[in-house]
Amino acid sequence: MRLVLVGPPGAGKGTQAVHLAQHFAIPHISTGDIFRSNIKGETELGLLAKSYMDKGELVPDSVTNDMVADRLTHPDTANGFLLDGYPRNVDQAKFLDGVLASRNIPLDAVLEFQLDNSEIVKRLSGRRVCKNCGATFHITLDKPKRDGICDKCQSELYQREDDKEEVIKRRLEVYAEQTAPIVSFYREEGLLISMSAEGEVEEITQRAISALKTAVS
Ligand code: AP5
Repeated sequence: MRLVLVGPPGAGKGTQAVHLAQHFAIPHISTGDIFRSNIKGETELGLLAKSYMDKGELVPDSVTNDMVADRLTHPDTANGFLLDGYPRNVDQAKFLDGVLASRNIPLDAVLEFQLDNSEIVKRLSGRRVCKNCGATFHITLDKPKRDGICDKCQSELYQREDDKEEVIKRRLEVYAEQTAPIVSFYREEGLLISMSAEGEVEEITQRAISALKTAVS
């Protein structure tokens, strides 16, 4: 399965990606996670990415496209992959098509998560992320067993810089202006599956698996 997840910030792409990647036994490739791990490692790429991410802007395509093209050469992608957070504009979508066409491995599906802005703001403003393993929680909707501590590795949880109110607002604008057009792009390619991202995490996972199985069979 070669799959792209698209949807506004906070729609639950990262949360669902973990379950879908496990179900289909494919790697979860999140450009946001790759950038955050570079920020944590204080690499040159991390420094550059941080200057855009903290403002809610997209990291330049010149950096992001090459990073993804390289990641897709890793052997773990031989049986497919799940891209989360990429592509994020039409130029990235065209670049990805070119890379996959040159390797004769077209996408199977693009799954779009739809969610109202009011729910998005609620989810993002309460999100907490593990400093060590990156696991995601929510202060009321998906509480860790101990406040501020990761259930999986017992490390401290933190709030992402870009989950502050003014940055959330800018990320939503950037989504509407730059990312939403890829929905039509993939609809025209016949790859788009749109679904509601409302409801419990497990319920959404089942909805996504059944939509993907129907579309890809
Ligand atoms: P990225 O990390 O990709 O962020 P995003 O797309 O804005 O997505 P989020 O991670 O905010 O949300 P999500 O949909 O994954 O939701 P989640 O599952 O965490 O990108 C960050 C930045 O990196 C960008 O702004 C940009 O600067 C840069 N970047 C990344 N990719 C790029 C690219 N291709 N090009 C250029 N720049 C790029 O859920 C959110 C919260 O809701 C959590 O607390 C979760 O616990 C909770 N939750 C999830 N599901 C449910 C549910 N069903 N019910 C209740 N709560 C739920």
